[in-house]
Amino acid sequence: MRTIFWQDGCVKLIDQTKLPESLEILECRNVDELAMAIKRLAVRGAPALEVAGGYGVALSAFEKEFSDLNELKSHIVERARLLASTRPTAVNLSVGIERVLSKALEGDSIEEIRRIAVEEANRIADEDVKRNEKLGEFGRELFEDGDSVLTICNTGSLATVYWGTALGVIRSAVKEGKKIRVFACETRPLNQGSRLTAWELLNDGIDVTLIADSMAGIVMQKGLVNKVIVGADRIVRDGVFNKIGTYTLAILAKEHGLPFYVAAPLTTFDWGKEMKDVEIEERGREELIYCHITCKRKLIAPENVKVYNPAFDATPLKYISAIITEKGIIFPPYEKSIPNILNEGGSASST
Ligand code: MRU
Repeated sequence: MRTIFWQDGCVKLIDQTKLPESLEILECRNVDELAMAIKRLAVRGAPALEVAGGYGVALSAFEKEFSDLNELKSHIVERARLLASTRPTAVNLSVGIERVLSKALEGDSIEEIRRIAVEEANRIADEDVKRNEKLGEFGRELFEDGDSVLTICNTGSLATVYWGTALGVIRSAVKEGKKIRVFACETRPLNQGSRLTAWELLNDGIDVTLIADSMAGIVMQKGLVNKVIVGADRIVRDGVFNKIGTYTLAILAKEHGLPFYVAAPLTTFDWGKEMKDVEIEERGREELIYCHITCKRKLIAPENVKVYNPAFDATPLKYISAIITEKGIIFPPYEKSIPNILNEGGSASST
């Protein structure tokens, strides 16, 4: 099933805050509801945010009756700005918003703009499914029967429309008949690893072992994993932004001589920027001082303690062994291989 889709004038999505206890569909009937869903991570993961952003623009075109075309156009531009401000780090959100907005603004009537916006958002969702299946086909070549792989956060179906990126690569390798074992970091503070990745992999019948984030070192030292694969929220000229803790895993992998792979679609690249240009989202203190934001609040830290809660970190490209995309696998030197794949849309090496 698709994790996010357009139906009856609403954006419907799996409410990820309810997992793993229950699988519930959340209906967002207007931009405010969708913006709230994005902020509280009911929908999350860079590719899913790209699709959500696109659908958000479509939603904005139906929010009220417009007296003329200009009123509609200025309304969707304003609502697009609001959507883009919900989460700053994953570039895919603004990519999805911009794509649908610019296409919709070409429309010559209210009906046409509405139709174009829904069609373009649906097109992004369809492309997401195809490109991740392609990415999985390329990426699975990097994995062998018997591999044991460490991952962080959730990069599976839930983070996309259907197949997943880093977890999609693992699913593709398993589908090919390879036996792969996964160690999933719980991914504090919001537990995307324990709540979502463990749930997805168990559903798929893939061997998964949950660890606390601080256990990654011992897992490598004891030889329990031989590869690491993660997703990405934004790839810039000198680094990869991904879930907080990714940078630590990359350094540990280097120390232990393990390949460190990133899997992401081309829409995650923001090659005009450097690490210093990107805002890292800082989230609320309640995520750290309570046992979990989605369950009954139980204090696990003194209520008045100072808290620092960045949601992402940036890993310099020198720690990354290869980047898996829907056009192929990119290897260092990235200053040559990445512009090559982005500018020419050409194929990277697949070995
Ligand atoms: O805060 P989140 O859960 O949206 O963070 C998601 C991640 O960091 C993922 O690793 C990234 O978006 C890639 S998802 C295919």
